[in-house]
Amino acid sequence: MTPIDRRAFLAAAGASAAMSAAKAIAASAAGEGSERAAHPGDDHRGPAVIASANGLKTVELAFARVAAGVDPLLAAVEGVGLVEADPDDMSVGYGGLPNERGVVQLDSSVMHGPTHRAGAVAALENIVHPARVALKVLQTTDHCLLVGQGALDFARAHGFPEQNLLTDRARAAWLKWKHNLSPADDWLDDDQTDWPEDQAPQTRLDHPPPGWPEGVPFTWGTIHCSAVTGAGDLGSCTTTSGLSFKIPGRVGDSPIVGAGMFCDNAVGAAGATGRGEAVIESCGAFDAVREMERGATPTEACLAVLRRIAERSTRQRRLVERGVPNFNVTMYALRKDGAFGSAALRGPAGGAPFAVCTAAGARIEHAPVLFVV
Ligand code: GLY
Repeated sequence: MTPIDRRAFLAAAGASAAMSAAKAIAASAAGEGSERAAHPGDDHRGPAVIASANGLKTVELAFARVAAGVDPLLAAVEGVGLVEADPDDMSVGYGGLPNERGVVQLDSSVMHGPTHRAGAVAALENIVHPARVALKVLQTTDHCLLVGQGALDFARAHGFPEQNLLTDRARAAWLKWKHNLSPADDWLDDDQTDWPEDQAPQTRLDHPPPGWPEGVPFTWGTIHCSAVTGAGDLGSCTTTSGLSFKIPGRVGDSPIVGAGMFCDNAVGAAGATGRGEAVIESCGAFDAVREMERGATPTEACLAVLRRIAERSTRQRRLVERGVPNFNVTMYALRKDGAFGSAALRGPAGGAPFAVCTAAGARIEHAPVLFVV
């Protein structure tokens, strides 16, 4: 299907006054009345690694590992490790934006296709590589998910080094947020002009919700990565620092198996980035894999999940209007035969970027969006 231009779309909907926005979304996303555009990834076959747009180096590394015969889950976990350790990515691992108390809490899940086993950690502090801890949960326990202090104790038991994950830049961003919470509190917003260039808060991270103060960073950001070998074995991984300035203990979709990540070696793998609550409420990754099982291409599967999220979003503060969310979610899907695709709820007319690596090399491709913004 082609990207939906919201203006054109509403104009069409307006011509038929009886057509609700929700119905219009469903009709347009189903490709009714429009030529369904081809998405080249849906036709790809063979080994492949797909990731969110912040994972270009991730897919390159993971694909090289898969090509060298490394297990696809180990390859994906190694690949996302580059972003977990990157202080400049404020949505994942070291350098991620902290919770409302200024503490970085990380979430991650992993799943291994051939054994259908999963591991996850949530609200983990002081460990740079939560995906590696999630992998240890999978490999060395009879559990799926460890949280908070228990996850940290487990990481310590396995010798993971501890360090403060709050970089100066993330701390500056947190202070900026705190200074802008209320004009009536005692945290005054100075303009922080004395921040060195490399420590100043980044402000263009993600689409903030309406009313978010100007100049204050915001992110739902995350990295998802799924890999498939030439033999059709899959591994999948999602890792994040989660929603910026969240309530301490808040857990997003990333460590929830079936929401932020899911893998079924008979079908494919999928993952999500964006507003975790919406993905949890729709079991996004599980839904995408089941869509592929029913015959959808990876791109169609991602779009089907996003349509359901749009149609079922009812919380007024999260809607532009009924059926039109003001937040973003991006889905990624990789089929057992190597077909891949992505789609985003909102994005530019040129599509939403995602990273992929195949035998043709690592690159950024663009996925269809439900609402052009
Ligand atoms: N998708 C990341 C989060 O909501 O925490």
